Amino acid sequence: MSTISSPPFVISLLLLMSIPLVLVLAPWVLPPKTMPSIPDLDEAEDLALFRRAAVPYFAGSGGARFLRRPTSEPKIAFLFLTNTDLAFAPLWERFFRGHERLFNVYVHADPATRFILPPTPSFRGRFINAKSTQRASPMLISASRRLLATALIDDPANAFFALLSERCVPLHSFRFTYRTLGGYLHLPRQRSYIQVVSDEPGLWKRYVARGDDVMMPEVPFVRFRYGSQFFVLTRRHAMLTVRDRRLWKKFKLPCLRSRNHSCYPEEHYFPTLLDMLDPAGCSRYTLTSVNWTDSVDGHPHTYRPPEISATLIKELRKSNSTYSHLFGRKFSPDSLDILLELADGVIFRD
Ligand SMILES: *[C@@H]1O[C@H](CO)[C@@H](O)[C@H](O)[C@H]1NC(C)=O
Ligand SMILES: *[C@@H]1O[C@H](CO)[C@@H](O)[C@H](O)[C@H]1NC(C)=O
Ligand SMILES: *[C@@H]1O[C@H](CO)[C@@H](O)[C@H](O)[C@H]1NC(C)=O
Repeated sequence: MSTISSPPFVISLLLLMSIPLVLVLAPWVLPPKTMPSIPDLDEAEDLALFRRAAVPYFAGSGGARFLRRPTSEPKIAFLFLTNTDLAFAPLWERFFRGHERLFNVYVHADPATRFILPPTPSFRGRFINAKSTQRASPMLISASRRLLATALIDDPANAFFALLSERCVPLHSFRFTYRTLGGYLHLPRQRSYIQVVSDEPGLWKRYVARGDDVMMPEVPFVRFRYGSQFFVLTRRHAMLTVRDRRLWKKFKLPCLRSRNHSCYPEEHYFPTLLDMLDPAGCSRYTLTSVNWTDSVDGHPHTYRPPEISATLIKELRKSNSTYSHLFGRKFSPDSLDILLELADGVIFRD
């Protein structure tokens, strides 16, 4: 028996030969190190949309350019992010009634959404070209920017851009909301109502969620900010946001799977960007109330019918700023009936 054919030798040889195979197959066999990232096609389509939104003029025939000038009073663009039914649409309809000239609605519904409730009149035909939105990914940032871009292009009169979810409800009348945002005042320099916080515990973990050092040099830790995902931006800030490429290059990086519990990029991108570009133009607080007491897995407290009363609505309106909260979250879909009962006597009575 020659050494060459001895079984141990053959086994070693086979093992040695299989190393390249293991290396080639590893990416398919081992779980990926990062959370889902944004598909290239989505990125390319978004870029084309954002380019169109970021120019202040329309291209006419024969190369003519027409400035986008508002032809009416300033409007509020209500931007709804959803992946389920718009259960509070009947309440919003009551809120909108009689103010048709002063607002537009836009809805970004995850394409996987199965709607059971049909959209009510203000929401019908207002669904924008939407793409997948997964938690713990930069996809919610993309969806918000898609809403901003679509609303910028759609109507030059859109002056304020309020981002909401299907779990948000109004806490005041339309008239009060409009006056608070400055619609009647035609201020030369309106502000965005966006929370900007720099001393949040856990900020460092959020900063390194995509990996150590990956945010440099565009986003040093001292410039990294936290803020509620829900904001009201001025037209100028909506424009700055869809024009941004520099910070997006970093914020679009997927989080490391091992750090997915610190992965909420949508709570950092907007406050970080606007605090860098125009700190004086930001209120630094949000007009959307939320209750983080006993939050579970990044979800705030959800209000259910037994808790909802006139007292609660008045409590949720209270804020530490000069302004009362305009919107509240989160409410369970079965809260609709009690909210409708409170609508005229409490919610829309300012
Ligand atoms: C984060 O990862 C854990 C396992 O490591 C998983 O159970 C959990 O669902 C993930 N969370 C998200 C938001 O993907
Ligand atoms: C906030 O939520 C907690 C429970 O998570 C609840 O006990 C408390 O009453 C809520 N606060 C308000 C102002 O509703
Ligand atoms: C106002 O600020 C105080 C102290 O910082 C805090 O305890 C309270 O919860 C805040 N209230 C609201 C409505 O934000």
